[in-house]
Amino acid sequence: MVIQTNISQAKQLVQKARKNGKSVGFIPTMGALHEGHLSLVREAVDECGFVVVSIFLNPLQFSPKEDLSHYPRDFKSDRKLLKLAGADLLFYPQAKDFYPSGFSTYVEETHLSKVLCGKSRLGHFRGVCTVLVKLFNVINPDIVYFGQKDYQQALIVRRLISDLNFSLKMKILPIVRDKDNLALSSRNAYLNRSERKESLCIYEALALAKELIDRGEKNTKKIVSTISKKISSKKRAKIDYIEIRNAENLNPLDKVTGKVLIALAVYIGKTRLIDNIVLNVKNK
Ligand code: PAJ
Repeated sequence: MVIQTNISQAKQLVQKARKNGKSVGFIPTMGALHEGHLSLVREAVDECGFVVVSIFLNPLQFSPKEDLSHYPRDFKSDRKLLKLAGADLLFYPQAKDFYPSGFSTYVEETHLSKVLCGKSRLGHFRGVCTVLVKLFNVINPDIVYFGQKDYQQALIVRRLISDLNFSLKMKILPIVRDKDNLALSSRNAYLNRSERKESLCIYEALALAKELIDRGEKNTKKIVSTISKKISSKKRAKIDYIEIRNAENLNPLDKVTGKVLIALAVYIGKTRLIDNIVLNVKNK
């Protein structure tokens, strides 16, 4: 595996692979890699001749309130894991090269970004879209891999790819969870032992929502209220949002029907965790 921080050299390496007839798979990440990220890398290794993973802690998607400087980093471990998973190129650009002084062009999705995480993290998706357009232009991949863990992000990227005419295919892969069902996240490293225990309420709430829907409950307000109670009963949990929306366009729903997204963001202590499930609900 080659490690490259230089933008034009990374570009050349990918071009060379492409000239040699290889298809290019790409997984953008912010590092502190875990099995969730690696599931995307392994899928790409299975499907593509040349697999690129980027690690870039994108300052544009963090607000001044959110602490970018404390985001977990472990380059040594990331490098080892990516090598083992079979990645060909680790692209590791530096912020000063990616956003040189005078940088003033941004990419913004203006509809799907307005709700859920976009509401609580103003400017976040503008930062995500901007960095992804830059990364897609440098790597020029055939297939890009994203996780359902960040469901809203994946929908926005799907929109961006279509709206800006990128010729690439996108794959969205399932959420990888710990044995006790907590969705894997780089941020889980922030949790102390008692917080880690309480964080289980997040998946339990989603499972309860599914159970209520399976039993025939249709009223989204009722479902949200029941699962909110479950989370609020935990000492260290504070709800940012719990919402049930149409899983294709993120429109709000009064009644649960069709392909629905149940998404939530919850602070456990100071750590903000997100999770979701998508259900296909048939009208009976
Ligand atoms: P990051 O949080 O590092 O995630 C990189 C990719 O891994 C995303 O597509 C995310 O959905 C996926 N992922 C994270 N946890 C996962 C899990 N438990 N199961 C499956 N997939 C998981 O998302 C970002 O970085 C950034 O916003 C980025 C797209 C790189 C732009 O900066």
